[in-house]
Amino acid sequence: MSETTPTSETDRTTTEEPDRETTEEPNQTTTEEPNQTTTAESTEADDSTNATTHTTTGEADERVREEWREYEFAGKPKFAVEDLDVHYGDDHALQGVSIEIPENSVTALIGPSGCGKSTFLRCLNRMNDRIKGARVDGSVRIDGREIYQDGVNLVELRKRVGMVFQSPNPFPKSIRENVAYGPAKHGDIETGLLARLLGRSDEAARDRLVEECLRDAALWEEVNDRLEDNALGLSGGQQQRLCIARCLSVDPEVILMDEPASALDPIATARIEDLIEQLSEEYTVVIVTHNMQQAARISDQTAVFLTGGELVEYGDTDQVFEDPRSERVEDYITGKFG
Ligand SMILES: Nc1ncnc2c1ncn2[C@@H]1O[C@H](COP(=O)(O)OP(=O)(O)O)[C@@H](O)[C@H]1O
Ligand SMILES: [Mg+2]
Repeated sequence: MSETTPTSETDRTTTEEPDRETTEEPNQTTTEEPNQTTTAESTEADDSTNATTHTTTGEADERVREEWREYEFAGKPKFAVEDLDVHYGDDHALQGVSIEIPENSVTALIGPSGCGKSTFLRCLNRMNDRIKGARVDGSVRIDGREIYQDGVNLVELRKRVGMVFQSPNPFPKSIRENVAYGPAKHGDIETGLLARLLGRSDEAARDRLVEECLRDAALWEEVNDRLEDNALGLSGGQQQRLCIARCLSVDPEVILMDEPASALDPIATARIEDLIEQLSEEYTVVIVTHNMQQAARISDQTAVFLTGGELVEYGDTDQVFEDPRSERVEDYITGKFG
């Protein structure tokens, strides 16, 4: 096939972005370099040209076609994203991304390292707002309501749209406190604001909630006899399920996951995958994964981003994997590049 980028996705993803949302990561740019050339060129050349004219490094002149991204689904869209562009300084990380994400399902985001998957995910709860130098243009609506407008309560937004990161990041507190922390802080359940105003705390209600979230995160059986233990003593897979429990504790509608299993062994990974499938009955799950088998196993629909920050193909997961419409996507999926 045509020339490929010299790096391999699988070689590098495990160490990527330990906790990206608060840091600026000056190193990132250098490690991502092989994939970045087109972005740099296109930004230099002309920002205003049609995004579809930019193709990826080392690939043929395939032009992205609108119909490769058309995906008809039953049910309601949870997210409607239109013409989303993200710049980090002069770097054009996402180009004109438009996509609708159905509720109560699993949407996988795949693509080579540096193609903007994490950036896209962070747009869905305005986490990029925290990154210095990041500029977001375009529209993201949740249940029809624009989140990129003045007056949006970001705390409330991130409660509705929770996030689980690649490396489990529990607080250095007890298992119980990790799960109870959010509701207490947000003050919207029995144990929260009202209790504090009344000067008492309803421990029974708190404990019920902790149990419910740990059960939903498939962790209860393993930790119910040691809820006071420090969460950092749990295994990696348990810590990740604890982070999912913590995310569930504030009653979100959406769970964003950025490579949530890539630091885990195969058994812990399988548990997380089972859990994701269960969660999608009640929640909208959007997951970034570099593991294509994982995407194929757990997702209902798959969005493929390629270098340059373009959404190239989007559709039913079986269709994307078995009969991709884009040649570049086919090359990526069959391992010819990336
Ligand atoms: N915090 C940041 N500051 C500057 N550039 C960033 C930052 N995060 C990501 N980028 C750049 O944006 C592009 C997309 O990155 P990212 O969204 O992390 O891709 P992926 O998750 O697909 O690997 C890359 O070129 C990367 O270097
Ligand atoms: Mg990423």
